Amino acid sequence: MTQDELKRLVAEAALAYVPPGTVIGVGSGSTVNLFIDALARLEGESRIAGAVSSSAASTVRLVARGIPVVDAGDIESLPVCVDGADEIDASGCMIKGGGAALTREKIVADLAERFVCIADGSKLVARLGRFPLPVEVIPMAAAQVTRRFAAMGGRAQRREGVVTDNGGLILDVHGLAIDDPVALETEVNQWPGVVCVGIFARRRATVCLLGTAEGVRTLTF
Ligand code: 5RP
Repeated sequence: MTQDELKRLVAEAALAYVPPGTVIGVGSGSTVNLFIDALARLEGESRIAGAVSSSAASTVRLVARGIPVVDAGDIESLPVCVDGADEIDASGCMIKGGGAALTREKIVADLAERFVCIADGSKLVARLGRFPLPVEVIPMAAAQVTRRFAAMGGRAQRREGVVTDNGGLILDVHGLAIDDPVALETEVNQWPGVVCVGIFARRRATVCLLGTAEGVRTLTF
């Protein structure tokens, strides 16, 4: 199976975690795009009432497919959010932000009772950090945050030409061996000017649907 076929497989499988008639959280990325397409094919009472979207790109796709987009401020909690990941480890901790949508993805995840991660099997890793860690920063803080990462052995590179939906910059941090994702997420969260770090460990996945040649592998955490 191709990587796209594996993504389609898990996107379809995620429908089993979507309560009909509810408002759910929807992430961003190519796997989530296929999930949005699958949501749009639901009919009658199986359809969702709406979605809280984690990016401008997902909003456009949801609206184009007739799925109402609900403002996060109008929602107290979501039964589930479905999102992709750039890496996920055996305890459900993830690196996210390859599509620069990490801040809104984390806000949506925080509202959700369950986080269903959908990914092809290549995203499962023994230790997070081979994928460069995305960090959204306020531009004024970029140089200082870069120095802080250098002090811990990381090489932060500005993602050229990218401004986030929130007007922030993305630093991609190479060379980090993330042995304690919760500790690193907590530490970086406190640096002035950091909007969001792409470690999702404090709020990690509750379920991961991995696309493999043998079919969907379900990990629960
Ligand atoms: C966007 C994300 C995506 O979920 C992540 O990059 C995975 O994307 P894809 O499904 O295209 O592999 O975090 O900010």
